[in-house]
Amino acid sequence: MNYRHSFHAGNHADVLKHAILLRMITLMQRKDAPLCYLDSHAGTGLYDLQGEDAGRTGEYLDGIGRLWARDDLPELLADYRQAVMLHNPGGELRLYPGSPQLVADVLREDDRMIVSELHAEDAQTLKDHFAHDYRIAVHQRDGYELPKAFLPVAEKRALWLLDPPFEKGDELQRCITAVQAGIQRMRQTVIALWYPVKDERLLRPFYQSIARAGLPKVLRVELGVRPTDTSLGLNGSGLMLVNPPWPLWEQLEETLPWLASQLAQSGEGSWRMDWLAGGP
Ligand SMILES: C[S@@+](CC[C@H](N)C(=O)[O-])C[C@H]1O[C@@H](n2cnc3c(N)ncnc32)[C@H](O)[C@@H]1O
Repeated sequence: MNYRHSFHAGNHADVLKHAILLRMITLMQRKDAPLCYLDSHAGTGLYDLQGEDAGRTGEYLDGIGRLWARDDLPELLADYRQAVMLHNPGGELRLYPGSPQLVADVLREDDRMIVSELHAEDAQTLKDHFAHDYRIAVHQRDGYELPKAFLPVAEKRALWLLDPPFEKGDELQRCITAVQAGIQRMRQTVIALWYPVKDERLLRPFYQSIARAGLPKVLRVELGVRPTDTSLGLNGSGLMLVNPPWPLWEQLEETLPWLASQLAQSGEGSWRMDWLAGGP
């Protein structure tokens, strides 16, 4: 395992993932009934954007950095920036919350969070960080085991972020298998599966497999910051959203064009959103 999220925290892919994750949980929290959040590949809680790793790549400058001082953010992005501001009360962008921290900040008293991270040091950091929060359980284990270990949850309402590093060639297929297992165990689970978009053509078998995986509803959301027909690094990213809460897609219709135009690194930026299974 070589991947360390500290090099990439706050980049364009995190903006897309975290803004949507935050909106999904707040939409689910419109109902009083408690929910359980599962974060299978959690990273750590907080990243120092002025530390050595983030400083070396500077990726956050073209992500959260581009939104930080704007006064014209669409509402969904303004809420996301507000969540990041919570950790930067002085106004200067320094600390960036990862997915477990973002969700921990909005967890209600009866909500629960189950987190797994395989990297021993990161898992220990998370354990220490959340040690005093009775709602949060941190496990150092393989995140792909999470659905079998914890679904169905007693709350009957679950949101699962599946966000692996994609270091190995079979990881897209592992994700599909894990998502299928999750849905088989609890059909109403809301799932956000993040994936990198480098060369879009290479993703076609993945799209086809997701569409044929027997999932109830799947919304595909993608954001491109560079043309996606070149293999030049992370040209964009996407989320497969299983059972997304209404009216997320209506809110994203308003948000994605703006975000694509603002985060573009070459050309105009691009976005797309469509249903690969089921529909609204
Ligand atoms: C993309 S990062 C996670 C970022 C985090 N979800 C966020 O949004 O802030 C992926 C993480 O998965 C961890 N990881 C890699 N393989 C894993 C596995 N099989 N199970 C659990 N964690 C794993 C890596 O150590 C890394 O911290």
